[in-house]
Amino acid sequence: MPTVFITGGAGFIGSALIRLLITASDWRIVNIDKLTYAGNLASLAAAGRDPRHVFCHHDICDRPALDALFAEHHPDGIIHLAAESHVDRSIHGPGDFVQTNVVGTYTLLEAARAYWSGLDAAARNAFRFHHVSTDEVFGSLGPCGRFDETTAYDPRSPYSASKAAADHLVRAWQHTYGLPTLITNCSNNYGPYQFPEKLIPLMIGNALAGKPLPIYGQGDNVRDWLYVDDHARALQLVFERGRPGETYCIGGGNEKTNLQVIDTVRDLLDRQSPRDADRRYAELKTFVADRPGHDQRYAIDAGKIQRELGWRPLETFASGIAKTVAWYLDNSDWVAQVQSGAYRNWLERNYAQR
Ligand code: NAD
Ligand code: DAU
Repeated sequence: MPTVFITGGAGFIGSALIRLLITASDWRIVNIDKLTYAGNLASLAAAGRDPRHVFCHHDICDRPALDALFAEHHPDGIIHLAAESHVDRSIHGPGDFVQTNVVGTYTLLEAARAYWSGLDAAARNAFRFHHVSTDEVFGSLGPCGRFDETTAYDPRSPYSASKAAADHLVRAWQHTYGLPTLITNCSNNYGPYQFPEKLIPLMIGNALAGKPLPIYGQGDNVRDWLYVDDHARALQLVFERGRPGETYCIGGGNEKTNLQVIDTVRDLLDRQSPRDADRRYAELKTFVADRPGHDQRYAIDAGKIQRELGWRPLETFASGIAKTVAWYLDNSDWVAQVQSGAYRNWLERNYAQR
């Protein structure tokens, strides 16, 4: 059975990818995750209990552990998602971002190269190292234009600088050593199981709790939103059919200001979970100090992945955000476990620790 290593498979996007691959592929999945605050095995749902999913509780900076996993599982490729992913945290404490996103990617590349060098020619050709990266490596746009695969790198936060460094390392391992790599740079994801530090789940959770909805600056920053399952389908396509050495930009074509996003969320909540008769969620909107160095606008031209691999998002923003709000309302248990910290006991309760 073909085997893929997925790093960060207990996170928001990694868990969506594993749920997809368990239903829509034959891959045996070795999920390597350190279970930071952002890792939650409950997010894997039934896929986590499938015999084709093996969970390995490791740090990607741990080279001996990685070497042992390569020797034991003989993977055909790697989809690397493990990262520190939240921009605000990177501003308050950049060290973890350099450690996991830069040193961790380097360590994984070196372990992969050592394993890959020992394969026969056919297996070496077929092997793929896919780095899941972000559009934030390209910096910030003015009112027009979009990022594509030719855009120069211009990262501006500790998070985006660490992801840009990882992209450069991945490219260097391809040019220097011939490791067959792929890079995807994706726009803002949203959907079920997202940690409630990110804009959309934070707004849903705060609104339901009657807490302020903090809007940075004027709320006019623009992000290009993509439903997480559409990203997962794009990752599967690129990993299985992308050309080694290439980069693919992925985005939903859904540019929205933060105020538009927040107003959409509170409209949906007014309809699906109204406050009492004379109170609306809009009263909770609160303008707060801006994020330092806040990038103004991101937008992706996803023409290459559409032309070469036939990928298209299935969700519009309207359909995806309605599903997302409904999911958070229907899954208050998942949210409560995250808020209380109880999700951190999942490993002990549900998985044999390795
Ligand atoms: P997340 O924060 O939800 O999950 C990250 C996962 O990585 C967690 O399960 C965590 O436990 C694990 N992890 C962190 N450090 C680790 C380490 N040292 N060793 C092993 N595991 C570790 O992140 P996400 O939003 O799912 O993002 C996944 C990837 O996609 C990241 O590389 C991110 O940069 C990229 N990305 C995210 C978005 C987005 O909108 N969320 C968009 C584009 C790209
Ligand atoms: O563009 C892709 C990136 O999208 C990913 O690489 C990152 O991992 C992911 O976290 C995301 O980064 P952002 O900084 O764009 O996402 P965040 O949800 O933190 O913020 C979205 C926008 O909302 C941004 O302009 C800041 C604003 N914001 C955010 C929060 C948490 C607020 O106005 N208030 C808030 O409380």
